[in-house]
Amino acid sequence: MDDTVSAAALRESEELHRITLLNMSDAVFITDDAGTFTYICPNCDVLFARSDEEVRGMGRISHLLGRDLVPPGAPVPDGEVRNIEHEIVNGRGERRVMLVHIKQVSIKGGTILYVCRDITDRKAAELALRRNEERLALALEAASMGTWDWQVPTGEMTWSPETHRLLGDFGGTRRPSFDAFMERLHPADRERVSRVMNDAMDRVSSYETEFRVVGYDSVERWVLGKGRALQNGVPLRMLGVFVDFTDRNRVERELRDLGGRLLTAHDRERLRIRDDLSEKAVQDADELAAELDGLRQQGGAAAAAQIGRLAGRAAEIGRRLHRVLDEIHPARVTGLGLGGAVRALCRELSEAHRVDINVDVAGVPDQLDPDIALGLYRIAQEALQNVVGHSGATRAIVTLTSAGAELFLTVVDGGRGFDDAARTGDTIGLMTMRERARLLGGQLIVTSKPRGGTRVEVRMPIRPS
Ligand SMILES: Nc1ncnc2c1ncn2[C@@H]1O[C@H](COP(=O)(O)OP(=O)(O)OP(=O)(O)O)[C@@H](O)[C@H]1O
Ligand SMILES: [Mg+2]
Repeated sequence: MDDTVSAAALRESEELHRITLLNMSDAVFITDDAGTFTYICPNCDVLFARSDEEVRGMGRISHLLGRDLVPPGAPVPDGEVRNIEHEIVNGRGERRVMLVHIKQVSIKGGTILYVCRDITDRKAAELALRRNEERLALALEAASMGTWDWQVPTGEMTWSPETHRLLGDFGGTRRPSFDAFMERLHPADRERVSRVMNDAMDRVSSYETEFRVVGYDSVERWVLGKGRALQNGVPLRMLGVFVDFTDRNRVERELRDLGGRLLTAHDRERLRIRDDLSEKAVQDADELAAELDGLRQQGGAAAAAQIGRLAGRAAEIGRRLHRVLDEIHPARVTGLGLGGAVRALCRELSEAHRVDINVDVAGVPDQLDPDIALGLYRIAQEALQNVVGHSGATRAIVTLTSAGAELFLTVVDGGRGFDDAARTGDTIGLMTMRERARLLGGQLIVTSKPRGGTRVEVRMPIRPS
């Protein structure tokens, strides 16, 4: 090969290099030990938004990259460093993330080769993916939803952290497998669930079914399982979610229970009203009629005293009927307004039970929404019945005030109190008070402790919500 031929071959090879470099998304630089450029690739503008001349003018690689990645004069450790993630600011002032490889070389009069690749978009995509995954994980957790993935040919299975928890494995240490899952199924549901899943696998379809699991912690949970089979001629993969609906079941049970208790209370109430009316009032009325008839037959002076006594009894019957009617529906709230009705209630109860009830009513609007007025009156009635019935207190304080757009009712006694924390679920009286307040957009708080008295506080919007 003569010189002209080899010179031409060299030129060709250099040209090939140049074209390759121009079209590459990597930028290549060579520097000497001090970091001064000895070679600059022809495609600086693609990665750094700077012309080759501009880069050459910078003189040193540290000016281009923002800092030295290899201390000047120091050798590259082990001859090569790969995958340095490094942020730069390009010629347009934008921040870009570069992946830089550094290698000890001996070409183009230099000693260190830098290969830079722009990975900004990849990093952004990775970040977006990670955020999405985090969001999904959060949503799944909030919904008590676990996921699983079963590679059928290898038998390999993965469970999301929530699936581990759902199966009672709070440390997340149990090894996921289809058999491990089957073992956790409630024995009564095992065969059915296995059939449903096998069917879905055979038909390459989805399934949905409810079952119980008995977790590693021995706690039984209700689970809704949904899954889908994927195939490629042979069973390939099955993916699914578990939803824990133990709580929903519990709430439904509680609601049913509550409904039952309310009905019982309602029936009991009716019975009591009927008893109150028929037993005592009717008996009194019968006796009164009989005695008046006797009087009519007797005539004379002795009758006068007896008539006085009977008039007293007639008045008592009237009062009793009033009380009963008032309990069925307190007409006094409409007649006297909320403030007047609460005052009358306190007066009546303190007379009947020898409890000194101090009432303070102030600033209650005259025109109140009838539901709100009745609701607050009922709450006061219920709270005061507890005071006279349970507290053993000889004094109580009732206040009814308004501030802003809200009404405030408090009923306080210094009686024996009760251990609110130790109670399991509200009993009807307390629950009805709370429900009445809630239904009208208000809030009721009961504070009580043994021997420390009881305080019932209600705040309620003046306008119905
Ligand atoms: N002011 C109070 N002082 C002391 N104990 C109270 C007071 N209020 C409530 N309690 C206790 O809380 C229990 C529950 O009260 P709640 O009003 O819900 O039911 P109740 O009064 O027993 O029956 P009812 O459903 O007929 O009202 C009472 O049985 C009593 O032990
Ligand atoms: Mg009560």
